[in-house]
Amino acid sequence: MSESSELKRVVLVGFMGAGKSAVGRRTATRLGWQFVDVDAQIEAQAGKSIAQIFRTEGEPAFREIEHRITLDLLQQSEVVISTGGGWPVRDDRMGQLPDGTLSVWLVVDAATAVARGNRRPGTRPLLNDPNPMQRARQLLAERTPEYSRAELHLETHGASPAVLAGRIVHYIRGQEH
Ligand code: S3P
Repeated sequence: MSESSELKRVVLVGFMGAGKSAVGRRTATRLGWQFVDVDAQIEAQAGKSIAQIFRTEGEPAFREIEHRITLDLLQQSEVVISTGGGWPVRDDRMGQLPDGTLSVWLVVDAATAVARGNRRPGTRPLLNDPNPMQRARQLLAERTPEYSRAELHLETHGASPAVLAGRIVHYIRGQEH
């Protein structure tokens, strides 16, 4: 975030299973702000699950809806936004975050992401692959350069969502003067 602008929103980015929703919800509660999960918004607006959208309309259609909804949310204030794992990786999105946005990368490794995905089978179409581990490693490697453009990087291994939310709030308070 630039030095002079007041903080208006927090955007969480990172790979599937990083805990963006759990951390985002707790961060919003701590700040007294609204929490919005983009995946949930997409499902509510489309009236079907993300897996169904991928299946029936394809990934490009999904990316279009995701882009529209996220762009709209990025105009709002006092909001914590949990983005979809693929959102930051196209069209220089990390370079075009509006002023007043704190971007946070929740870092997770491929094995943890796959293990978490397995707990909710069928919800992550991109890992629906004969070799999900290899696919996760490949996607993570492709995406890491964009995720790492976030202002704050938080390693999620061994840290609960509450602890991670506390770190975000602590960072914000430290920026205030
Ligand atoms: C995706 C991540 C998912 C969801 C969709 C595509 C991705 O969100 O948007 O399945 O490209 O990494 P989460 O990161 O919340 O799982």
